[in-house]
Amino acid sequence: MLHRITNQTHNLVPRTPNPSLLHLILSSSMATSSSHSDHLPLKPIPGTYGLPFFGPIIDRHDYFYHEGRDNFFASRIRRYNSTVIRTNMPPGPFISSDPRVVALLDGASFPILFDNDRVQKLNVLDGTFMPSTKFTGSFRVCAYLDTAEPNHTLIKRFFLQALARRKDAFVPLFRNCLQESFAEIEDQLSKNAKADFNAVFSDASFNFIFRLFCDNKDPSQTNLGSKGPKLVDTWLLLQLAPLATLGLPKIFNYIEDFFIRTLPFPACLTKSGYNTLYDAFKTHATTLLDEAQSLGLDPNEACHNVVFAAGFNAYGGLKNQFPFLLKWVGLAGDKLHADLAREVRRVVNAAGGVTLNALENMPLVKSVVYEVLRIDPAVPYQYARAREDLVVRSHDASFEVKKGEMLFGYQPFATKDPRIFDDAEVFVARRFVGEGERLLKHVLWSNGKETDEPSESNKQCAGKNLVVLLCRLFLVDLFLRYDTFEFDFKQGGFGPSITIKSLTKASTLF
Ligand code: HEM
Repeated sequence: MLHRITNQTHNLVPRTPNPSLLHLILSSSMATSSSHSDHLPLKPIPGTYGLPFFGPIIDRHDYFYHEGRDNFFASRIRRYNSTVIRTNMPPGPFISSDPRVVALLDGASFPILFDNDRVQKLNVLDGTFMPSTKFTGSFRVCAYLDTAEPNHTLIKRFFLQALARRKDAFVPLFRNCLQESFAEIEDQLSKNAKADFNAVFSDASFNFIFRLFCDNKDPSQTNLGSKGPKLVDTWLLLQLAPLATLGLPKIFNYIEDFFIRTLPFPACLTKSGYNTLYDAFKTHATTLLDEAQSLGLDPNEACHNVVFAAGFNAYGGLKNQFPFLLKWVGLAGDKLHADLAREVRRVVNAAGGVTLNALENMPLVKSVVYEVLRIDPAVPYQYARAREDLVVRSHDASFEVKKGEMLFGYQPFATKDPRIFDDAEVFVARRFVGEGERLLKHVLWSNGKETDEPSESNKQCAGKNLVVLLCRLFLVDLFLRYDTFEFDFKQGGFGPSITIKSLTKASTLF
């Protein structure tokens, strides 16, 4: 297979630093491992917040423009010889009132973020700032609620039950979306000799979640027409802009920074688009909203939660996840494609179709999906506030964190921790096959361990198992149809932009 990879980092920030550099930094800063975390020496947390106002601005310029995301953290690990450090996180003044965090930059300290008895997850979904609730009908929706809030229990229960009730629809509905998407890609290829993978799979992600929540109603037959994904994109962008950069030439850095990080964008800019989305769900998600009402949820609040879960959580996550998956599988090359095609076709043939049981019997497909979720988590940062004074442990030391301090985990450094994973920077397709499954507890993309389950008392992604299933189905349908593919990609701040250059039709049936 011929790869034409344009790995231009036209981007918010480079995602992956020099692999050997990260390995070197992480492993050398932790060279004196202790075998028992309880006996680790207690150390003060190194690092500095700098001068008020100026410190956060200097840090955010380093983060976005001078060093880039990975190097920002790698350079501080090196400077302080520690994987738990103090720093400011963007956006800083004037959008966040307090940008100071304790950064957790290894796989040992990171899981404290999942300990809901000791950390609070109140309004921290986006970090040290929270977009106005006017973006969500003046409600604080589920993802911003802490586990101690009764409404979190109720709304999370609603989503978990809603997904469980619809589980039989997952496979046929998503395979239907895949069929349309691959047909669209083939059509674009025949007309233009290239196809816009991201656009096609953004539409597929929206289509799937809308139909799942709205009794299989196709959004194109509603007031949304084909506008749904664009309306959500604008709504997301206005909320998340302070965390982004357009990757413009250097000369524009200060203008961009001033423009998107001084004041938040007002929700009124997206009000009519949001209302259109709200109306679509209100009109068509009738069964789902009835389920909410029978649990005692306010109908208006339930519908805003549905729009948020469908638009922000599900569509926002999935539209980035499929490009990650295709990029890593594409880069792995022909040999992996042949192995995947062989496994997929053999198992589907034996099972007589694509069933949940068949998917369970595809160790390579499963491992590849987990490996992509490990190496490139779609939501790379997580925040939580200490509920009480607590002790955080890295591999080498323990650190006291005071009640109320903000903890921030940079997930790519946790899931590429060389003290946990061999060749942590390398995409190893079979990493989680057989014995390798024991490492799944270190895969953390869902705001929880892959071996844990989302529940109403934790903050793990409600769609965790659905996402894994959809990624497996994507690979299954890809390799039932095609032997291999050619692609280009451009790395962007929220993930790669992929252009498909060719698809080679499956040469064998099974
Ligand atoms: C690739 C796709 C997805 C990714 C990467 C993703 C990731 C995440 C993450 C990291 C969180 C925790 C955020 C935090 O508190 O720090 C989360 C929460 C959540 N996700 Fe997902 N998610 C995805 C898809 C979905 C889907 C398909 C659904 C449902 C249909 C969903 C529903 C939720 C909900 C309701 C929450 C809030 C959980 C709570 O507050 O307890 N997500 N997701």
